[in-house]
Amino acid sequence: MTHEVVDNVRAMRWHREALEMLDQRELPAREVWVRCTTCAEVASAITSMVVRGAPAIGVCAAYGAVLSARVRQRDDRGGWRAGFDADLDALARARPTAVNLVWAVERMRRVARAADDAAAPGAILDAAHALHRDDVDGNRRMGAYGAALLGARAPVLTHCNTGSLATGGYGTALGVIRSAWAAGKVERVLADETRPWLQGARLTAWELVRDGIPVDLLADGAAAWAMRRAGVGWVIVGADRVAANGDVANKIGTYALAVAARHHGVRFMVAAPTSTIDPDCPDGDAIPIELRAEAEVLTAGGRRIAAEGARAWNPVFDVTPAALVDALVTERGVIERPGPEAIAAHLGRA
Ligand code: MRU
Repeated sequence: MTHEVVDNVRAMRWHREALEMLDQRELPAREVWVRCTTCAEVASAITSMVVRGAPAIGVCAAYGAVLSARVRQRDDRGGWRAGFDADLDALARARPTAVNLVWAVERMRRVARAADDAAAPGAILDAAHALHRDDVDGNRRMGAYGAALLGARAPVLTHCNTGSLATGGYGTALGVIRSAWAAGKVERVLADETRPWLQGARLTAWELVRDGIPVDLLADGAAAWAMRRAGVGWVIVGADRVAANGDVANKIGTYALAVAARHHGVRFMVAAPTSTIDPDCPDGDAIPIELRAEAEVLTAGGRRIAAEGARAWNPVFDVTPAALVDALVTERGVIERPGPEAIAAHLGRA
């Protein structure tokens, strides 16, 4: 049985000369829009997880560059370009692992350099809209490529949130799942709750319920057992950075899923746009891994749950070696068993 795809959620919108972001810290309880009128506000929203997910961060950063050019031209007059570059440098540092952030920032910097002063803000806004549109279009193509890999109707397992909220729209791994559901290939989605931010429980479940796609939440520790007992067809995840050799940085817990998938003979797919591939990063060891506050692990819902005196180690991403990835799917197609040569060829750099 096939289904209709809904996809009516967007994480960000350019509205009345400002960037508005759906505050993902408040979901699913409340739908609150945060309005940013400066680049520093956008950087702060990214750091504090108002918006998260690698491609969504990139799209918001592009709009952040628009705000910088406008504010700097208004306030700094002749010298606006130095302030603009400083704003973009700070924006690029808002979170370290998702390479889409730097990719979008550098793209906007090039657009600004190519434009004369009067035309620059408009040119950057056009480029930001195009980047946003291209992300959604690319995700739909990626969804079709990924869905074509799936076999008979079966449960799929996913981690974190990789949907419309994590991208310009539609999603990466969740986009593949949407397309596969539409084609009748997904029986239900097993979604890891994804401690400590609970992107799976709060965001993925919210998106899937809105789309009418059946979702069962898993405590993260239940995933390997689900692979043994629940007939999982594929594990499908996104990425924050893919190194030139195919190693994949993604939400903490992804590596454990890949190890468990290989052990159980379950296929493991990474869905990510080419903007998430970092050709300058030779392998996973070179990917900067964000460490966040201990409090995120020591507390839940704002209340301390850990024994007083206990400390926490909170890396929020891990690296899955390329050897554990069966398929890397981008908006350009599928790389089976990704390695350096296949990735370089895929990027047109061979
Ligand atoms: O810390 P987050 O929520 O920004 O982490 C997000 C993820 O790890 C996603 O899986 C990744 O960005 C791919 S989403 C399109």
